[in-house]
Amino acid sequence: MKVVSTINAVQQEVIKQKKVHRSVGFVPTMGALHAGHLNLLRRAKGQTDFVIVSIFVNPKQFNDKEDLSRYPRPLEKDLAKLEESGCDMVFTPSEKEIYPRDFDLDYPLGYLDQIMEGKHRRGHFRGVVTVVNRLFDIVQPDKAFFGEKDYQQLTIIRKMVKDLHLPFIIVPCPIVREPDGLAMSSRNALLSAEQRIHAPLIFKTLKEALHLKDTYTIDQMKKWVMDTINADPELKLEYFEIVDATDLKAVSSWQENKQIIACIAAWAGKIRLIDNLKFSS
Ligand code: PAJ
Repeated sequence: MKVVSTINAVQQEVIKQKKVHRSVGFVPTMGALHAGHLNLLRRAKGQTDFVIVSIFVNPKQFNDKEDLSRYPRPLEKDLAKLEESGCDMVFTPSEKEIYPRDFDLDYPLGYLDQIMEGKHRRGHFRGVVTVVNRLFDIVQPDKAFFGEKDYQQLTIIRKMVKDLHLPFIIVPCPIVREPDGLAMSSRNALLSAEQRIHAPLIFKTLKEALHLKDTYTIDQMKKWVMDTINADPELKLEYFEIVDATDLKAVSSWQENKQIIACIAAWAGKIRLIDNLKFSS
């Protein structure tokens, strides 16, 4: 496994691979790798010949500076996991390599930036599209792999790739969970022992909500989810939304859409956790 930190080294390798008609898979990450990330790598390995994983904690997408400073950065452990999982190249750029001068991608995010994560984390998605676009420019992958855990991020990136006619295929990958249902996240490591015990209630509530679909209206369900999460002493609901799985527009009745997804964000102390579950009929 090659570990490189310059754009030049990535580009040289990609040129080499493409010359011999080997396809390039790309998995962008912010490190603190867990089984969810490694599953993206596994899928990338299954679908492309040469897989590049990037590790870059992108300051531009952190609306909360405290969140940025406490974000875990266990680089040595990450490299060991990637090596063991058969990654071909790891790209660990410095901030200066990615942003030699300050700029933000002027891509109109529109409605997708005004709801859920966009509404509660101002500037987050501008930072995400800026870095992903920059990384795409550098790597020029055939396929890039993203997790459904960050469903809104995936939706925005798919739209951007389509709008900008970028010649890459975006491959969505399912959420990987802990045995108790908690969606894997780099931030789970920051939970206290007590918070960790309570955090699985988020996914449990989503699953129970799905079963209440036949008896509750959307508004009743929203209230039930809010009450259930907020009744837990360790958790506080930020939002629970039921939206169309394609354009993320709010759904007001169960009959309206076929592909529906329920998205949730909750705080466990200072740690923000997100999850989602498809409610499709
Ligand atoms: P990060 O949070 O490190 O996640 C990297 C990729 O792993 C994303 O595509 C994310 O959706 C996926 N992922 C995380 N947890 C997952 C889980 N439990 N199951 C499946 N996939 C999971 O998302 C980012 O980094 C950044 O915003 C990035 C795209 C790298 C841009 O900076």
